[in-house]
Amino acid sequence: MAGSGISPDDAGELLRRHVKSEGLIRHSLATAAIMADLAVKMNEPSPETWEATGLLHDLDMEITGDDYARHGLVAAEMLGGVLPAEFIHAIKAHNGKLNGTVRTTRLDFLLSAAESVTGLISATALIHPDRSLGSVSPASVMKRMGKTGFARNVDRARIEECAEAGWELEEFVTLALNAMKRIAPEIGL
Ligand SMILES: [Fe+2]
Repeated sequence: MAGSGISPDDAGELLRRHVKSEGLIRHSLATAAIMADLAVKMNEPSPETWEATGLLHDLDMEITGDDYARHGLVAAEMLGGVLPAEFIHAIKAHNGKLNGTVRTTRLDFLLSAAESVTGLISATALIHPDRSLGSVSPASVMKRMGKTGFARNVDRARIEECAEAGWELEEFVTLALNAMKRIAPEIGL
């Protein structure tokens, strides 16, 4: 039904139609896994829509390219009628600093925090000898929250915004890590 949400399977197909970078697809899968687990944990009525939103949040990345101020806005246009309005708002707001969309809802803060923490967790996995998530602990990720020289491009402030959605940082990191471990083979970790 238009506007009521797209299934994760259909969202995955849509993603692959517009995104060719395997790295970006893996980042989208990781974000989706975290969003799904967050929704379940919070008893949200539509975890599948949370998951689909994680899959689709960077849908326009290969279209907008270096024009970062349009990132999120173009995706929002592409997703009109595909996702409910509050989910489209969250997609715009995950790049709010550059496109001017203010994050206000729990969903806004969690999409932004989730997609940011994927980078920190992936980078932490890659410094382990087996280059996988298997032996990564929440404490290991937490330690790297404070090391700004590590995974420099990961915006820690955006991860810390999980607090705006009522999440304690370590609990959020633990859930995110477990979500990514759940799909580790799919994301090459
Ligand atoms: Fe992203």
